[in-house]
Amino acid sequence: MSILVTGGAGYIGSHTAVELLNAGEEIVIVDNLINSQIETIDKIKQITGKDFKFYQVDLLDGENLQKIFEENSDIESVIHFAGLKAVGESVEKPLEYYKNNLIGTITLLETMRKYNCKKIIFSSSATVYGEQVSVKYVETMKRGETTSTYGTTKAIIEKMLEDIYFADNSWNISILRYFNPIGAHDSGLIGEDPKGIPNNLMPFIMKVANKEIDHLNIFGNDYDTKDGTAARDYIHVVDLAKGHLKALEKLNSEKNGLYVYNLGTGTPYTVQEIVDTFKKTNNIEVPYEYTERRAGDLPIFYADPTKARNELGWVAEKNIEDMCKDSWNFVKTTKQK
Ligand code: NAD
Ligand code: UFG
Repeated sequence: MSILVTGGAGYIGSHTAVELLNAGEEIVIVDNLINSQIETIDKIKQITGKDFKFYQVDLLDGENLQKIFEENSDIESVIHFAGLKAVGESVEKPLEYYKNNLIGTITLLETMRKYNCKKIIFSSSATVYGEQVSVKYVETMKRGETTSTYGTTKAIIEKMLEDIYFADNSWNISILRYFNPIGAHDSGLIGEDPKGIPNNLMPFIMKVANKEIDHLNIFGNDYDTKDGTAARDYIHVVDLAKGHLKALEKLNSEKNGLYVYNLGTGTPYTVQEIVDTFKKTNNIEVPYEYTERRAGDLPIFYADPTKARNELGWVAEKNIEDMCKDSWNFVKTTKQK
């Protein structure tokens, strides 16, 4: 039996592929490489010493997607990472985001149904909680008003999966809401390397530390947090990857259902704490300036990870030092040879 990993050449998908292969699972990866590199596929093979099939196919291309299911009739479940994810860009290009994320997912789900493959894990995001009064996000909270097209695509797909399960409870679905993934595999071979100027904090810090950008702008130091900078629930990408194996175990062992889990550590860290820890752990300079708040940013949000702990037996194990060390190790390994 094999697992189809959509978006498996991407940041979280590649780390999850490594964990799946290390656990002895058979996988097939499909990715159109719109936000990733073909080299990552070889790196996954190098790290694990395992082989697997890779298809450079767009999820919107239903015909070729069907071919993948035809050629791999043992695909039993899907972990669905593929999607566009840049929050700011999604607001500027809503049609592109709706088309890619929604039509891509619909095409995938239709194809799965056709081949009677009804087990799926979906990459959702903490952003579906919207702006809640209480910041410790619990799965029992309703989805809130999303603040970007990106977030809206996640909320719509969650609702779509609920409706599909309601109509046909032979589906078996796990929705995972990620908090802020950072860090990299400790081999330093795979990690997050966005093209152009990064939007997210850790990729930006890495470019400043590597002297590709002269300084970091810290967006706001007047929030109501311990040091005035905004706080998030940063989670090591390898811990996050392992969460998918636990979610899959649950889907394989239980009767059909629709499950929703937060994947976070439950502990918020401020931007200042991340910058200070990165500098100290790696003994490197990260020049920064305080600037205006970034539009749409919340002061603080973090996960209540209790449900994932109790039902999946999953707990994030790596700490903030590991996250900063492994992020920098990826840059040193891949860019400073
Ligand atoms: P990523 O961009 O590194 O990986 C996504 C992969 O999907 C890329 O390799 C891209 O080429 C591929 N892809 C995109 N559209 C495709 C399509 N139509 N057909 C085939 N392949 C396609 O992003 P990531 O950080 O690894 O995120 C993975 C998933 O997790 C995404 O759905 C993202 O929205 C979600 N997520 C990410 C974060 C985060 O902070 N990284 C947080 C919450 C949720
Ligand atoms: N930040 C800076 N300077 C930068 C980049 C970020 O100070 O150059 C700050 C932000 O203001 C924020 C924190 O660092 O306070 C984290 O910012 P990121 O952009 O790394 O992450 P966000 O929390 O804004 O975004 C995350 C996910 C999205 C998701 C969003 C809302 O990356 O997928 O949360 O839930 F949609």
